[in-house]
Amino acid sequence: MNIGNSRIPWARPILFGDEKVLAAEAIESTYLSAGAFIERLERAFGALHGDADAMLAVSNGTTAIELTYLALGLGPGDEVIQPGWCFAAAANMTLAVGATPVFADIRPDDWMIDPDDVERRITPRTRAIVVVHTYGNVCDASAFVEIGRRHGIPVIEDCAESMFSRRDGRVCGTFGDVATWSLQSTKTITSGEGGFVFARDDKLRQRMKLLRSHGMSGPRKYWHVEIGRNFRLTNVQAAIAVAQLGHREELIAMRRRVDRGYQRRLGNVPGIRLQHYPKAVDPVVWAFAVLIDPDVHTVPRDEVMARMAKTGIETRPGFYSFGQQPLYGAPPLANADRIAAQTIALPFPPDLSDAEQDRVVAALQEALRA
Ligand SMILES: Cc1ncc(COP(=O)(O)O)c(C=O)c1O
Repeated sequence: MNIGNSRIPWARPILFGDEKVLAAEAIESTYLSAGAFIERLERAFGALHGDADAMLAVSNGTTAIELTYLALGLGPGDEVIQPGWCFAAAANMTLAVGATPVFADIRPDDWMIDPDDVERRITPRTRAIVVVHTYGNVCDASAFVEIGRRHGIPVIEDCAESMFSRRDGRVCGTFGDVATWSLQSTKTITSGEGGFVFARDDKLRQRMKLLRSHGMSGPRKYWHVEIGRNFRLTNVQAAIAVAQLGHREELIAMRRRVDRGYQRRLGNVPGIRLQHYPKAVDPVVWAFAVLIDPDVHTVPRDEVMARMAKTGIETRPGFYSFGQQPLYGAPPLANADRIAAQTIALPFPPDLSDAEQDRVVAALQEALRA
């Protein structure tokens, strides 16, 4: 088999051509900052989540989280419970607003935050629970909503990696009090940089709107009622995202094909475990990771990645756990630390060909050879 040696990137945005057309329309309108595409995008993405009026477009998935914390009034002395293994935006923004991240362990099979561990970590200072739906999976969000209701704590869903994934038929982002997404270029739909916040509570959303744009309010121009930020998406970015959103079914189908291809090739390989997707979950996978069992394979994870890189295949480590990174001063967590040390996220461009996928899997198996 000629498996070739051209570079296989970890991710690659899929563009359809109308991104260019709509971006040009936005530019020709001369409305580069605010503009009609923003509301069009918010209403379209909101409608896909059950409320066309409740979606706000923002500059990226990180400011979406920061905006949520600011609108909830989080600050020093407040604790935010979140996963001990995931992308760090929720943790970093917790620290940025002066609050304290409290890390809960993840579950060993689906790699999602563990509701029992969250409940154990609730204190009188807990002001929010953030669930991060990692790699396309959807955590048991209803369990967190129930815990949140019982303790009077809002639940925030970080859906950056799980756009359009479903659990029990319900689209991710519609379980909690607030949900956030990213439109960064590896994400399911993209505008280069961008994001969303979804909040059905009108008062909270109005505060987010205010804080998104300098805390200026009312008919008087340049009248500030809050210390706001500038977290606005541009009209040109919104135009690109509107075009992408129109192709969501194709993008979802492409991701499903690559996911199925890996499941078929790697589902029964000794010493390799895959992230478990519960039956209730219908995922749109963002990243496909393998967990290397060190009892079976002795080559260190980073060496496996280096060997694959030599054949032109770009991989990423699973996230480092917060306990591993001195910045966070977090205590060890058994599952988070183990999964962090043993996972490799494989290339997942939505248009990865069968031949490329064969090559990735062959290179992985070769790299695992002691
Ligand atoms: C789970 C998660 N949350 C938040 C973000 C941050 O999004 P952005 O890069 O748009 O700021 C990302 C990644 O990009 C992510 O994976």
